[in-house]
Amino acid sequence: MLGILNIERTLGPPMPRMNVFDAIVGNVAVREFRPDIISEEYLKRILEAARLTQSAKNQQPWTFVVIKDRQMLNKLADLMTGDMDEGIMKKAPMAVAIVGDPVSEFYLFDLGRVTQSMTLAAWELGIGSVIISGPEPPDRENYRVKAGELIGVPKNLEFRELIIFGYPKVKKKVRHKQRKKYQDIVFEERFGASP
Ligand SMILES: Cc1cc2nc3c(=O)[nH]c(=O)nc-3n(C[C@H](O)[C@H](O)[C@H](O)COP(=O)(O)O)c2cc1C
Repeated sequence: MLGILNIERTLGPPMPRMNVFDAIVGNVAVREFRPDIISEEYLKRILEAARLTQSAKNQQPWTFVVIKDRQMLNKLADLMTGDMDEGIMKKAPMAVAIVGDPVSEFYLFDLGRVTQSMTLAAWELGIGSVIISGPEPPDRENYRVKAGELIGVPKNLEFRELIIFGYPKVKKKVRHKQRKKYQDIVFEERFGASP
């Protein structure tokens, strides 16, 4: 109980509440943003959602770098030359770099979870996001090394992804999500057996 109260205290005044399932269903990648930057209060809430995420053995193999400087955002975009992500980054109001610690066997799994926490916490606040993975393989690894150097990531850690956060330029109504069919991905008792 005390723990919960302490957490709430770090989050500031009451915030909008959205049903978790609705947030998952409604959340879509947003690639065009209004130029205004989200408030410090909202950004802190998103990062708190990250900080409080579960991880294997509670190793928390993550750190985050908030990037608002236009020149730095452009330099990161320049590392993606020729990729669709370059254009998206050039117009990004801000981004958060996800840095992973490969010391944990589960670090990529944990980074996926932490990313989901952040993007859903943002969505609840009306803030859209998109993960930016940079150039396609085989150029991706080199891009990650260079992007890590640019923002000063220590050698023992890995720059993995950028997430852009901002207010959607246009509000997309989710009518249909392109996803595999339920019966193609959910089996009962044995792989391939329909429920
Ligand atoms: C791990 C991951 C990496 C992604 N990388 C990119 C990316 O580099 N550029 C991009 O425009 N979208 C990226 N996305 C967004 C996905 O393409 C998008 O969520 C997916 O196509 C489903 O579309 P929807 O979000 O509109 O439902 C990424 C999403 C995930 C989960």
